[in-house]
Amino acid sequence: MSNVQGMSDPNYVSKQYRDGSNLNARIRLHQLFSVNQYGWQRWLFDQMKLEANSKVLELGCGTGELWLENLERIPKGVEVVISDFSEGMVEQVQKNLKNQPNFQYKVIDAQAIPFEDDRFDFVIANHMLFHLPDREKGLSEIKRVLKPSGWLFASTIGKNNLIEINEMVTRFEPQFATWNTLASDSFSLENGEAQLRKHFSSVTLHRYPDSLMVTEAKPLIEYVFSGRLQLSDERKAKLVEFIEREFSDHGGRIFLTKDSGLFVAKN
Ligand SMILES: C[S@@+](CC[C@H](N)C(=O)[O-])C[C@H]1O[C@@H](n2cnc3c(N)ncnc32)[C@H](O)[C@@H]1O
Repeated sequence: MSNVQGMSDPNYVSKQYRDGSNLNARIRLHQLFSVNQYGWQRWLFDQMKLEANSKVLELGCGTGELWLENLERIPKGVEVVISDFSEGMVEQVQKNLKNQPNFQYKVIDAQAIPFEDDRFDFVIANHMLFHLPDREKGLSEIKRVLKPSGWLFASTIGKNNLIEINEMVTRFEPQFATWNTLASDSFSLENGEAQLRKHFSSVTLHRYPDSLMVTEAKPLIEYVFSGRLQLSDERKAKLVEFIEREFSDHGGRIFLTKDSGLFVAKN
């Protein structure tokens, strides 16, 4: 039997992010084949313009790439609470960032943030709001812990993100038609602004211009298996053959649309 699990299904989310392995497979595809060489994490950091001595809370930090790729650019005196719902991720990020001053590590569910009101200057929620079963609660919690002068940075994807992979796996198995579209149904570049406007006084969307030119089948196969597909071993082997055939049919190069950006929201 084949199946696709929902983006905010707690069973899916806790299994998917038990540790960094699935997320790493996805980050790797972008690191190897992104056309825009500037880099997503550096670009994100540019948009945030964190101020010296500010207090920052990151929710759903994953493996901590944002900080790892910008360590030398963190302004003086910034204090960061870096957090994730998954204990495995928090352990991983603690290892990745060891010895860095000014970081505090915490397991936090974004829907129940264990801090007092008006505590932070900046809250960061990168590619994670689409996982919240109760996003309204999450957004009101973020607003509550932000100072009145505070800002939320929330990145996500749009409906065209990696649309070619969606088309490819749907040709293999029509039930996978929703594989890549579930995030865009919950919190996306298209519908995120309306959701944020209910809580924040101004919201601006910044899009990151990029695409992928994939020239090796293996990282793409690992990406596909890092997601929500549930397949028998036999069907998995068939999907590997299918993707390898796609590669040779396209002369060993597959172009993928990347559709990602950042909402900057003022409290
Ligand atoms: C797609 S990953 C993004 C990781 C990282 N922010 C990045 O952009 O690379 C989503 C992360 O959100 C976390 N997450 C899911 N539900 C959460 C919740 N309710 N509260 C906090 N974090 C959550 C997952 O454990 C995972 O690490």
